[in-house]
Amino acid sequence: MVNKVGFRPTKISGLATFVPPRVLTNKDLEKMVETTDEWILQRTGIRERHIVDPGVATSDLAKEAALKAIAQAGLTPADIDFIVVGTTTPDMMFPSTACLVQDKIGATKAWGFDLGAACSGFVYALTTATHMVGAGTHTHALAIGADVMSSIIDYTDRATCVLFGDGAGAVVVSPATDGCGIIDFANEVDGSGGRSLCMPAGGSLRPASHETVDQRLHYVKQDGQAVFKFAVRKTEEICARIMERNKITADDIDLFVSHQANRRIIMSAAERLGLPPEKVIVNIEKYGNTTAGTIPLALTDAIAEGRLKKGNLVLLASVGAGFTVGSVLLRWSI
Ligand SMILES: CC(C)(COP(=O)(O)OP(=O)(O)OC[C@H]1O[C@@H](n2cnc3c(N)ncnc32)[C@H](O)[C@@H]1OP(=O)(O)O)[C@@H](O)C(=O)NCCC(=O)NCCS
Repeated sequence: MVNKVGFRPTKISGLATFVPPRVLTNKDLEKMVETTDEWILQRTGIRERHIVDPGVATSDLAKEAALKAIAQAGLTPADIDFIVVGTTTPDMMFPSTACLVQDKIGATKAWGFDLGAACSGFVYALTTATHMVGAGTHTHALAIGADVMSSIIDYTDRATCVLFGDGAGAVVVSPATDGCGIIDFANEVDGSGGRSLCMPAGGSLRPASHETVDQRLHYVKQDGQAVFKFAVRKTEEICARIMERNKITADDIDLFVSHQANRRIIMSAAERLGLPPEKVIVNIEKYGNTTAGTIPLALTDAIAEGRLKKGNLVLLASVGAGFTVGSVLLRWSI
């Protein structure tokens, strides 16, 4: 299959993830808000999620994942030329989390920046890293998806607090030589959906004040049903587009790795695409929605379960706040 990115072929040469050890179960949430384990499991597919201890930030999770991914690629941090971090929960407004990660891992030759695409953070970071390496201007790039969602979740709001968890994933993107690697990508945004999923305060529009804190505006606000409908429709649309232009059908795809926001979103989109459950990875049960962390976490679990092997044709897809929509088609290369 021809590399549609149009430059030199690129591949994922290392993948690793990290979640903080502390687990927050549905049973724990039953003690915090009016909810039940049964409701959460049935409506979302989530059983538990991992949550950081106070003082642990996004760059800390990203560091753990990045160091392991670099080692898996057979490299050292000094070999990394470029770092992009997809995150909605940077350690702080500035400096960027990419700068903090660069320092923490000792990537002395790298430059980089953060990318704001919410749940599409990893797919967009992978697309960006692919271009940097594909252009021939960089040899090894680190694409990270990392979020500490617990830092912006209102644990008195049952409509959102049951959904999210903390986690990080990192891949190294390197030149490819053996026919495996990144094949194509498709992305789009629809800013008209901005109000459906956002954190209203803390930016330049509504800087932090006593009022914004009193009104609980520094937390995730969501119109769950609007997001749900958009996510099902757009996951299908973006995947159908990339499949069609690469002249592949559901039969050709070995594994569908969607962003993990809700089991029902993933299974509805897969069904519409004609992908049977055995070609779909769902691990939301263990992690909840870790925003930019979900796709690398799902890839890692697929490998551990023996469902993802070198040479497999893999379709990644995501829909996130913005709205952001993304998809990457690749032949698995590790
Ligand atoms: C949030 C979501 C799970 C809610 O599921 P839903 O089936 O749409 O549920 P609704 O919002 O219609 O609520 C149904 C009922 O459950 C209640 N409910 C909401 N959260 C609840 C909870 N945690 N526990 C128990 N009941 C809950 C609602 O109050 C409502 O009660 P009512 O019928 O008495 O008014 C679902 O809309 C969703 O997953 N949306 C997409 C979220 C997402 O993917 N976000 C990230 C995008 S990247």
